Amino acid sequence: MSKPAPARSGPTTAVYPGSFDPITRGHLEIAERASRLFDRVIVAVGRHPTKAGFFSVAQRCELIEESLAHLANAEAGSFDGLVVEYCRRRNAKIIVRGLRAVGDFEPEFQMGLANRDLAPEIETVFLIPRPEQQFVSSSLIREIAGHGGQFERYVTPSVADALHERLKPKTRQTDA
Ligand code: COA
Repeated sequence: MSKPAPARSGPTTAVYPGSFDPITRGHLEIAERASRLFDRVIVAVGRHPTKAGFFSVAQRCELIEESLAHLANAEAGSFDGLVVEYCRRRNAKIIVRGLRAVGDFEPEFQMGLANRDLAPEIETVFLIPRPEQQFVSSSLIREIAGHGGQFERYVTPSVADALHERLKPKTRQTDA
């Protein structure tokens, strides 16, 4: 006896949330792989209630959009509050997270369980970044850049330009 065809629930939207301050090639690799797995991917900046961040949320979204330009089904977004509520608003049934070295596991496990408890209809999918991307993080790149080191290979050219611009010494007006 043949099995009944599974009910189609329409295109699958995934949200890849993070702080993306700024987006790195490590994040981009996860977004690219998610774009092959799901019909639509929203790379979404979570607005921190108290932390201003290095780049503004608007700048981070702009840099995400530029970095995703080659992916037809991926876009930038931003949200306040809970990620699961954002997923519901965007009709997304999947949360994508990158799982790097062992240190990522504990907090990701806790966040995954909390999100599942809050929204059982939403699944968290973990993707493992390439080994050469495992140590990359936004704050590490900001630190290398801040000390004048070579950080460009870890980010896209538009992010590198934005970092150079942001770190350019400001010319001070002095009274004569
Ligand atoms: N490549 C490079 N860096 C990566 C990476 C990858 N594939 N995956 C993670 N990182 C780095 C980030 O750059 C960041 O580095 P930094 O601390 O040096 O800046 C670090 O890992 C943290 O990752 P991030 O993805 O930004 O996650 P986060 O832990 O800051 O979480 C939210 C951000 C928005 C996902 C999370 O806080 C959230 O969902 N907030 C809303 C409230 C909520 O719903 N909470 C969950 C239920 S309690």
